[in-house]
Amino acid sequence: MHFTGILLSYASVGMAFVLSDPKMSLNSIPFSTRVHWMREANAALKVVTGSPCPFAAFGTVIVNHTNTDGLGDLLCIGANENSLTGNPTLHGEMAAIKNCTAILTDPNGRYNLTASEAQAAFTDLTLYTNAESCPMCASGIRWAGFREYIYGTSIDRLIQTGWGQIRIPSIDVFQASFDLPNAARLVGNLLVNETDPLFLWQYDPLYPCPSGCSRSEDGSTCEAN
Ligand SMILES: *[C@@H]1O[C@H](CO)[C@@H](O)[C@H](O)[C@H]1NC(C)=O
Ligand SMILES: *[C@@H]1O[C@H](CO)[C@@H](O)[C@H](O)[C@H]1NC(C)=O
Ligand SMILES: *[C@@H]1O[C@H](CO)[C@@H](O)[C@H](O)[C@H]1NC(C)=O
Ligand SMILES: *[C@@H]1O[C@H](CO)[C@@H](O)[C@H](O)[C@H]1NC(C)=O
Ligand SMILES: [Zn+2]
Repeated sequence: MHFTGILLSYASVGMAFVLSDPKMSLNSIPFSTRVHWMREANAALKVVTGSPCPFAAFGTVIVNHTNTDGLGDLLCIGANENSLTGNPTLHGEMAAIKNCTAILTDPNGRYNLTASEAQAAFTDLTLYTNAESCPMCASGIRWAGFREYIYGTSIDRLIQTGWGQIRIPSIDVFQASFDLPNAARLVGNLLVNETDPLFLWQYDPLYPCPSGCSRSEDGSTCEAN
């Protein structure tokens, strides 16, 4: 399947625009590396929730691509924790930002950063999320000052397939956030052939379950095998 993604770049005084051929390197990171990390965002679901097909299948990874040799350095992962914790704001992106903050400031961890150093560290980092962020998370991404923000399945696609969403695309949040420093580069619709299937079964009983899962007896949900 041909990659049909769009690459968008936003400068604090500019408009979103299609950057270039999707197979090009972006910020010196090849497409194959982007794909690797989007797959890891999908894989975060199993690690965090114990299931490859949680209902809220929103997974995130946060990576340091400052050193452009190799795949980059994984800092943390996250997945939607609403039903695990009862906290309705813990979407995958917020959970990952929380997790990374804890990892960056852990006095016994690899980084042992102060709070202000941890905040500053986000400006080096790339956030991959398997679905476009809601406006809360897109705003969180801008407050954090990420260098890059890359999503899979779009909000439009989620809405078309039955998901309730707040209908503000990330690009609008990014365009409205020009008062904040560190404009992030935004890339949409990466690897949707692998992210979409995680979101298309919930409201369509005939849609196949993600791999590792099968339909419950009454067909209403997908469950881990
Ligand atoms: C999805 O598309 C990418 C190219 O964009 C391709 O490398 C990958 O193999 C495809 N995945 C599947 C499961 O077909
Ligand atoms: C936090 O990220 C670490 C490192 O990727 C991962 O091992 C851990 O499972 C994550 N914790 C949560 C709650 O997502
Ligand atoms: C973490 O850094 C603080 C100084 O900011 C230092 O006092 C502390 O010993 C460090 N922790 C470890 C385990 O090295
Ligand atoms: C990101 O990588 C660069 C280059 O290797 C390094 O200097 C920086 O400390 C890293 N940032 C974090 C938060 O790991
Ligand atoms: Zn969100």
